[in-house]
Amino acid sequence: MTGDLFDSVAEAQPQREAIADGAVLLRGFVKPMESGLIDAARAIVAQSPFRRMTTPGGHQMSVAMTNCGERGWITDHTGYRYDPVDPRTAAPWPAMPPLFCDLARRAAEQGGFEGFAPDACLVNCYEPGTRLSLHQDKDELDYSAPIVSVSLGLPATFLFGGLARSDKPRRFRLVHGDVVVWGGASRLAYHGVAPLADGEHPLLGRKRINLTFRRTR
Ligand code: SIN
Ligand code: FE2
Repeated sequence: MTGDLFDSVAEAQPQREAIADGAVLLRGFVKPMESGLIDAARAIVAQSPFRRMTTPGGHQMSVAMTNCGERGWITDHTGYRYDPVDPRTAAPWPAMPPLFCDLARRAAEQGGFEGFAPDACLVNCYEPGTRLSLHQDKDELDYSAPIVSVSLGLPATFLFGGLARSDKPRRFRLVHGDVVVWGGASRLAYHGVAPLADGEHPLLGRKRINLTFRRTR
């Protein structure tokens, strides 16, 4: 019976690691729905393909991106913004799959943020060597909602700093199935991803896919 008791405790309390004030790392949180997530991501990409966007400064990003949800995050020579229309297809972004909304809400809850209802999900595709430099997620109108970030595929080194760009970031290894939630005192923390190491993931090959959920307004 002891085994059963410990099993149910493990199930009721997913592994949660506080990484900063208002920020938690949920190890393996989306592992149980990995294939549903990957299938849903493939359907999104079939409708609104990955593309490497250009920053206002004229640099092409190394990570390729797309979106789903009511609004998508885009960058071009005019700036960063959320837009209900995919400029590539001139059609609305693919709808956010119920599985996505549900896991984002449950993950946020684990981080202490009740009632998270994302209206945007940025889908990032990393190939070996690509990186995301330190930045804040600050194009949203309301910072009371957290950011929920899901890792699939190849492992990555996630950099999580403070509220100043100069704060030395801490490094966390994120693997397939991990989720990071940050809000509250960490909502505007600088973060990024170190250049992706090469490798082969059984489900996604030489890629890392990241889903980042936001409430934009
Ligand atoms: C992001 O900051 O938008 C993505 C972070 C990640 O890929 O883990
Ligand atoms: Fe970000």
